[in-house]
Amino acid sequence: STFHSFLQELPKCEHHMHLEGSLSPEVLFTLAKRNNITLPQDDPAFQSPETLLARYDRFTSLDDFLHYYYIGMSVLISDSDFEDLAMDYFRHAAADGVAHAEVFFDPQAHLERGVSYNTVLKGFSAARDRAQKEFGITSELICCFLRHLPVPNCVSMFKDADVQASFKNGSVTGIGLDSSEKPFPPALFEDIYAGARELGLRRTAHAGEEGPSTFISDALDILKVERIDHGIRLIEDEALLQRIAKDGTMLSVCPLSNVLLRCVKEVKEVPIRKFLDAGVQFSINSDDPAYFGGYILDNYCAVHEAFDLSVAEWTSICRAGIEGSWCSQARKDEML
Ligand code: ADE
Ligand code: ZN
Repeated sequence: STFHSFLQELPKCEHHMHLEGSLSPEVLFTLAKRNNITLPQDDPAFQSPETLLARYDRFTSLDDFLHYYYIGMSVLISDSDFEDLAMDYFRHAAADGVAHAEVFFDPQAHLERGVSYNTVLKGFSAARDRAQKEFGITSELICCFLRHLPVPNCVSMFKDADVQASFKNGSVTGIGLDSSEKPFPPALFEDIYAGARELGLRRTAHAGEEGPSTFISDALDILKVERIDHGIRLIEDEALLQRIAKDGTMLSVCPLSNVLLRCVKEVKEVPIRKFLDAGVQFSINSDDPAYFGGYILDNYCAVHEAFDLSVAEWTSICRAGIEGSWCSQARKDEML
């Protein structure tokens, strides 16, 4: 339809996409073979790319998804695997009309398997350069801490010389916090976020996806984040909602992810209308597109179907996305 092409052509910024979440079942099986990685034999989902994709339709929770997500990324070994993975994302992003992408990666999940931080970073950095040259897509990398791992493990990654070098030389722009949410409150990571702030890094955290709205206020107050990833449970605290609207804090909302992980029953339940009416700034994102059946444009279209937004509303959503991005003012001016 004409609205589809209108949404496609909008200069979109993506703020919530895990690069490891763009690993398709096809690529997963190809890399498993090439890298001699044995996939679980006792889970019938791993019979073929088709059976795996079918299993993705039946996620029961964030943790059920994460189980597959961490097995999936175990096939990534060489820097070119990471480059190919990210290029797969950037190609989809280009087709969907993404102008600028701020993408997450999960180094601890690779370090634990003996894949070095610099291997991961080398592959992703090469893909970022190519995405800029081949598609005109600018990007930033956000290094995430896995909240289900022991805090000392997270602290040692933060202090690692290669990690610190990537923060200081600008190849990584900010930090994030992801993985299993409910048992791991933001306060556990206070020291890491204080350290990141001292280095002048940008800061975001997943909060209020499955966890309570107090995790959103704790992320703001204790971690001093500049952005909240998901944040849909903000609707449970009207005062906090007003505060976030007043401060202009961006939420990176992921509608199809919320449905697939059963945080909501349907896209209509994602509080898009509530956020618009209250003046809460948000962007619309794909989270783990290869797992949740849709890249960014699918998410835009699903929101349009559920909420029938006007051209003016869509234009202001994209404008907020540009203004809330962590790129240079010159790049924002180009996109506006
Ligand atoms: N890692 C990848 N996707 C995630 C999500 N939606 N929530 C928490 N951790 C994640
Ligand atoms: Zn996420």
